[in-house]
Amino acid sequence: MNTDIFSKVDNYISNLLAPEDKALSDTISTLVSEGLPQHSVSANQGKFLQVLMIACNAKRVLELGTLGGYSTIWLARALPENGKVITIEVDPHHGEVAKKNIDNAGLSHKVEMRTGKALDILPNLIANKEEPFDLIFIDADKPPYVEYFNYAVQLSRPGTLIICDNVIRDGKALDMNSTDEKVVGVQRLNEMLGQNTHVTATILQTVGVKEYDGMAIAVVNRV
Ligand code: SAH
Ligand code: DHB
Ligand code: MG
Repeated sequence: MNTDIFSKVDNYISNLLAPEDKALSDTISTLVSEGLPQHSVSANQGKFLQVLMIACNAKRVLELGTLGGYSTIWLARALPENGKVITIEVDPHHGEVAKKNIDNAGLSHKVEMRTGKALDILPNLIANKEEPFDLIFIDADKPPYVEYFNYAVQLSRPGTLIICDNVIRDGKALDMNSTDEKVVGVQRLNEMLGQNTHVTATILQTVGVKEYDGMAIAVVNRV
């Protein structure tokens, strides 16, 4: 398949609807200069998250996996003045790079970073009776996606959107003999989503400037 067309159309769409300003393009540059992986969402995916946020009137957002802060900047920009993103990152170097990028975008007052493993921080948020989030973006390491999702439901209210990135992985999600722990992690999530009575969910396949992949989108019915 000639996938060149997917990148070209993605660029066509993002030029029209999701142009990057300097703070966003500088953020991508810091990934290169600081040796971070190129795993940020695309510009269009950032815009897609904003559309979802505005559709559900999101004031409180939780993100798992900050990296250089690229998705965090898209999320924070769709918040109202009194809104907040809490973003969780395990790697202190990624966290430092992200802090600078978020500051450079003028968004530090809207972003609270928690440095540590998401599996340690999520139960803390629940124990501390953190107010429910309006949108939760799961984009950290893939093996514990089911556990992350179950914590996310506990941090939700009916109507909360939970979005999980990278759940199709170039179609490898179809390979039931896969030994790739990332693939197995997203397969566990995808299989669970169909059975989970707390949410109504589907998965959108994504093509474009990134690898062929997919995003799971769930709306919480009951906590
Ligand atoms: N959301 C970002 C991309 C995140 S890449 C964007 O689109 O711009 C995944 C990030 O998750 C990496 O920075 C990685 O260090 C972090 N991560 C990996 N394991 C983690 C864990 N156990 N807890 C929290 N973050 C983790
Ligand atoms: C990977 C992680 C991501 O969050 C992403 O968007 C793409 C790839 C990875 O770990 O392979
Ligand atoms: Mg991702």
